[in-house]
Amino acid sequence: MKPVWNLPGFTLDLRHLWDKTGGPNVESQKAGLMEELHRLLQEKFASEVGFYDWPIKVRESELVKIEHCSENLRKRFDGVACFGIGGSFLGAASVIGALRPPEDAFPLIWVSQVDPDSISQAHRKIVGRNIAPVVISKSGNTVETLAGFYHFSRELNLDGCIVVTDPNKGELRRLANQLAWQSFDVPSNIGGRFSVFTAVGLLPCALASIPIRALMDGARAMRDCLEHLSPSENPAYWLALSYKHWFDRGCNVQYWMPYHAQLRLLADWNIQLWSESLGKRKKVNAKEATGFTACAALGTSDQHSLLQLFKDGPRDKVIGFLDVCSDTNTLIQEPAFSIEEGKQVVGHSFEELTRLACVATETSLNRADVPTYRVILEPGAKALGALMFLDLVSCAFAGELFGVSAFDQPGVEEAKKLLRESMEK
Ligand code: PA5
Repeated sequence: MKPVWNLPGFTLDLRHLWDKTGGPNVESQKAGLMEELHRLLQEKFASEVGFYDWPIKVRESELVKIEHCSENLRKRFDGVACFGIGGSFLGAASVIGALRPPEDAFPLIWVSQVDPDSISQAHRKIVGRNIAPVVISKSGNTVETLAGFYHFSRELNLDGCIVVTDPNKGELRRLANQLAWQSFDVPSNIGGRFSVFTAVGLLPCALASIPIRALMDGARAMRDCLEHLSPSENPAYWLALSYKHWFDRGCNVQYWMPYHAQLRLLADWNIQLWSESLGKRKKVNAKEATGFTACAALGTSDQHSLLQLFKDGPRDKVIGFLDVCSDTNTLIQEPAFSIEEGKQVVGHSFEELTRLACVATETSLNRADVPTYRVILEPGAKALGALMFLDLVSCAFAGELFGVSAFDQPGVEEAKKLLRESMEK
């Protein structure tokens, strides 16, 4: 099997993860294992884990409700303040960052970070304007989210307050029921970091004029594509298996390195997904820990800061490049003065320069036997939805492969509880 997949909206090229490892011939012996883990995962998807079937199960009425709510808010208010953190922030923020809404898009003020400086910045944007709150928290009890919302509630127009939370539990649910605020349910079987395709991600995206139907089409197209492949051909599984292969050889650091600044937050979304899902004690032997230190770098800037370390530093990293096939062609102009150096760039495009810089980094790392892979993404919401869905499935499969539950986060929950307790004291 050739480790390059032309998927809906992007190409996934794992060649450089395989070429120094005996490649597909060795790995295909894992087909039996893939079948077995696939079966275990499908059982979970059919019972307690909802994200996989969500793109085909989400009701049309839910999408219409999101669209109506966003149109209504846009008509009635000067902007919205979105309160949320972790999975209740990163999915939507990374999609919005990646797809760059138009300059005159409806203002969306994120209150995610609660240090005093961030709060006073948010204050400047909120005060004196007709801003409605959109409060997003799966648990409905996250201290930072509630603190920000409570703090600004007197400055906000609560007539437009929208809550996205658990259908039955939590303080936000209680408030929404008591004060008759409009609300959206986060399905109880879809965890925070897996929730980008629910109202958690879709409502802020719709507010920011992102075509949410196209995003969902991408997720659905990817699900269909994976469903039609056998487990031993499934690219999401192969990505996880390749990570595991390198993990067993000491590479427990995973970088996503986009070559387009607008994808930088997407790499942060990936950090949360893989860190919280896999950073665990094993189910069988609780003493044994597993997980990747997931990180983000940005090309080309970080080529000039991190590449030296990637190449000659500790052999503990797998680097995934994210490249975009641009639909623009911005030519590098002839300078206004005469030059002796750098003539070769003139007449090329910035798109070409970016692509070639990515290839140069990849080649240099491969020469040093550093494991890398590449995603080449088409522009637009559909391709992004497909890539994010593949990453979710890959991470879920990696949980099975590493023998941990990818769907809980006891470490995060403990710190949330400690914070609540210490605030109470
Ligand atoms: O993935 C998770 O479950 C967590 O990291 C949450 O996203 C984060 O803690 C925010 O939680 P909540 O959505 O309950 O406010």
